[in-house]
Amino acid sequence: MEAKRIAAEKAAAYVQDNMVVGLGTGSTAYWAIEYLGKRVSEGLNIRAIATSFQSEEQARKLGIPIVQFADIEQIDITIDGADEVDEQFNLIKGGGGALLREKIVAAASKQMIVIVDESKLVGTLGKFPLPVEIVKFGFEMTMKKLGKLGCELRLRMKDNEVYLTDNGNYIVDCHFGSITEPERLHQLINLIPGVVDNGLFINMTRHVIAGYRSGNIEELVK
Ligand code: A5P
Repeated sequence: MEAKRIAAEKAAAYVQDNMVVGLGTGSTAYWAIEYLGKRVSEGLNIRAIATSFQSEEQARKLGIPIVQFADIEQIDITIDGADEVDEQFNLIKGGGGALLREKIVAAASKQMIVIVDESKLVGTLGKFPLPVEIVKFGFEMTMKKLGKLGCELRLRMKDNEVYLTDNGNYIVDCHFGSITEPERLHQLINLIPGVVDNGLFINMTRHVIAGYRSGNIEELVK
């Protein structure tokens, strides 16, 4: 928790007055939102767009003004976690199920800062199962087609029911083992009818902040 919190606070310190801020989702982004809430209570003037109902609720409770896409031209900075980060800063996201909104928000942002603890830094993506958001209609067929790409896959469940995203879709967790060509895989997956998007984030960030259990913070910029 401490490693996540220090990375999150370092990233949140980049937020300045009058910025539109994308709020990520997950246990690391949680700390960034908490810290931004503190700064807002001390006078920081920002507007924010959240990547999930959960983050939006947290932000509202902290008094962070929430806006919608209709209210803005673009997002100045987005701060979000990741499940894996490779050496080229490609990411796997979606462990918390928010990958679609996270990608829409990241794509609308001038910059995205990714905040992780040291355990998320990997040489090659793929040990963490890749989340793929699919529509309910025909999901059995969509899953068959995903399986043909060479993964072991599982429909995500929660409390004995099929997990539903904030968009009312399903998530399939696809275990590829090792993803050596993330850009190509991203394209292949998104070509399957029924797939809404997948958790590979390619070339979406140039700035990663990693917190270590030792208390050190590593800031990686490319
Ligand atoms: C949410 O859907 C995810 O993309 C999260 O950003 C990611 O899973 C990281 O979550 P933690 O910070 O909780 O590890």
